[in-house]
Amino acid sequence: MNFTPKEIVAQLDKYIVGQTKAKKAVAVALRNRYRRSMLPPEERSEITPKNIVMSGPTGVGKTEIARRLAKLVGCPFVKVEATKYTEVGYVGRDVESMVRDLVEVAVRMVKDNKKKEVENKVLPIVENKIVDALFQNRRVTMVDVNRDALFEELHSGKCEDETIEVVVLEAPKPMMSLGGSEINLGSMFDGLNPPKHKKKKMTVRHAREVLLQEESDKIIDMDNVNEEAITLAEEHGIIFIDEIDKIIGKSQATNSADVSREGVQRDILPIVEGSTVPTKYGNVKTDFILFIAAGAFHVANMEDMIPELQGRFPIRVNLESLTKEDFKKILSTPKNAVTVQYSNLLKVDNINLVFTDDALDEIAEMAERENETNEDLGARRLHTIMEQVLEDISYNATGEHPMLDINIDRNYVVNVFKDKKKNYDLKKYVL
Ligand SMILES: Nc1ncnc2c1ncn2[C@@H]1O[C@H](COP(=O)(O)OP(=O)(O)OP(=O)(O)O)[C@@H](O)[C@H]1O
Ligand SMILES: [Mg+2]
Repeated sequence: MNFTPKEIVAQLDKYIVGQTKAKKAVAVALRNRYRRSMLPPEERSEITPKNIVMSGPTGVGKTEIARRLAKLVGCPFVKVEATKYTEVGYVGRDVESMVRDLVEVAVRMVKDNKKKEVENKVLPIVENKIVDALFQNRRVTMVDVNRDALFEELHSGKCEDETIEVVVLEAPKPMMSLGGSEINLGSMFDGLNPPKHKKKKMTVRHAREVLLQEESDKIIDMDNVNEEAITLAEEHGIIFIDEIDKIIGKSQATNSADVSREGVQRDILPIVEGSTVPTKYGNVKTDFILFIAAGAFHVANMEDMIPELQGRFPIRVNLESLTKEDFKKILSTPKNAVTVQYSNLLKVDNINLVFTDDALDEIAEMAERENETNEDLGARRLHTIMEQVLEDISYNATGEHPMLDINIDRNYVVNVFKDKKKNYDLKKYVL
């Protein structure tokens, strides 16, 4: 996935309104990974990624950028919450687990790729097994069954939902977690207990999936996969650390919670700085992993971070508060805009929602007002408002009526809230 910075920004633009600075920073960082990978090894080893920290009020798109990025980039990507970690020695997840998670993703990616590569080789074996099973099914009722005909039937897709009995490997034993590091009980005893085969009933569709997995596992060399995955994670991995501000204790640590937060920061430091983390697939060097951190930094400032860690995030971008105009765009333009989501949902119940432009204006204005007078929720405010605007329709739509067009205009929105006010006032009197 070698998008140019402009292409990356254009992709992000489909979902995220504004925040150009943050999008650009992320896009450049991504492109730099690619540029670096094109250099000769001796030059490459000198260049470490410039980690990014995004700050900005709540609900303006920090996490959303990460989410969209994850789908976009063809490299191993994990998004973790800084608040999930505890200092080494305490019960909870240690920070190294973020690297283990990244490798896990890389292994899956490499495996999937390999699986695609060998699919042509193993598909005939798998289809043979399925046809064998179909043969058994047909033999119960028919005298002569033609295998060739069965192959044809299989390819036509007519028997995808037919239940067949196939021999499959028994599912691996569940993972057990021992002091943070996962141990696969199954693989521990692999040498002692050869994998067991078992007859199982399943649909043709499911059987194909399971058997493809089994057969490709047989020919894919796992040592190679692990090695490739580790290199992929080391060279192209991205770790997004969300809510980083929550592990920053304000000023001097006074209570134990602050002390423990500082501990997490210190634990994160070597990982961001470059160290070696042991995983069950092998050792992973973190020097070239790209870290993107984000946080609202309401209470704690970036400057409250321990200096060593600050230094490891040289690129800082501030996401701006969203304006009324942004809200209006967020309501209607992104591919997954809230209005689109509600329209799609209600279409199921035969309601065709149409939002007029002035309705969007009204909702956007209301969001801005509410954010100013009450708590600032950013774009999340739009969701709460929309939910209320459509409350009645959502509740009453049943799908038992013919398609209804409902026009949501400014009046509709204003009326909804007029009534709400009334209810609210009434409640005051009842009390
Ligand atoms: N710039 C934006 N463009 C489009 N949608 C947005 C934007 N900002 C926020 N949203 C919407 O608001 C929701 C919340 O945003 P997001 O999760 O990114 O907040 P955040 O900046 O991470 O806030 P927090 O600091 O509370 O974690 C998103 O799911 C998205 O629907
Ligand atoms: Mg967030």
